[in-house]
Amino acid sequence: MIKARVGVLISGRGSNMMALVEAARDPAYPAEIVCVVSNRADAKGLEYAASHGIAAELINHKHFATRESFEAALDAYLRKMNVEIIACAGFMRILTPGFISGWLGRMINIHPSLLPAYKGLHTHERALADGAKVHGCTVHHVTAELDAGPVILQAQVPVLPDDTPDTLSARVLSEEHRIYPQALAMLARQLN
Ligand code: GAR
Repeated sequence: MIKARVGVLISGRGSNMMALVEAARDPAYPAEIVCVVSNRADAKGLEYAASHGIAAELINHKHFATRESFEAALDAYLRKMNVEIIACAGFMRILTPGFISGWLGRMINIHPSLLPAYKGLHTHERALADGAKVHGCTVHHVTAELDAGPVILQAQVPVLPDDTPDTLSARVLSEEHRIYPQALAMLARQLN
């Protein structure tokens, strides 16, 4: 089977990246994770990738004078690794339209809300403050407009009366880990 070559972008814990790596261990999975890139040196996910034999690359945005020069380095690394699909997994840098246009249709993101509700940050706090009864997560294509690209998959969870941002986020996160590998597989099959 020809597997799509995937680069995962992270900034921290990397639990969604781990879910993708786990899923890709199945010989029947249509994608392989060829590299994990972090823009932060303290991202825990980098150690995990390296210890699983995956190229783990730090491209620290603070070492670049401009957003564009950071993105040029990121783009060059991903192309050197022959990456075909970028999966953003808790990658907390906004990417410019220039970078995104080079990957349109081949770059996806997981977001902790039922988009178009709660774009941006602090999604669980905002859902609780609104008294939302359902919440969830979305895998979507990355386009120039933040958190607004075409939706690939979503999953809903109930909001319970005694939820805190932590309990709600844990319930959403376990759904993220379920749907992100599914959505990546769908895109990989489409492209191959
Ligand atoms: C996840 O909940 C992901 O949906 C969210 O950050 C967390 C990363 O966790 N992403 C965003 O908020 C993107 N705007 P992880 O590092 O354990 O995957």
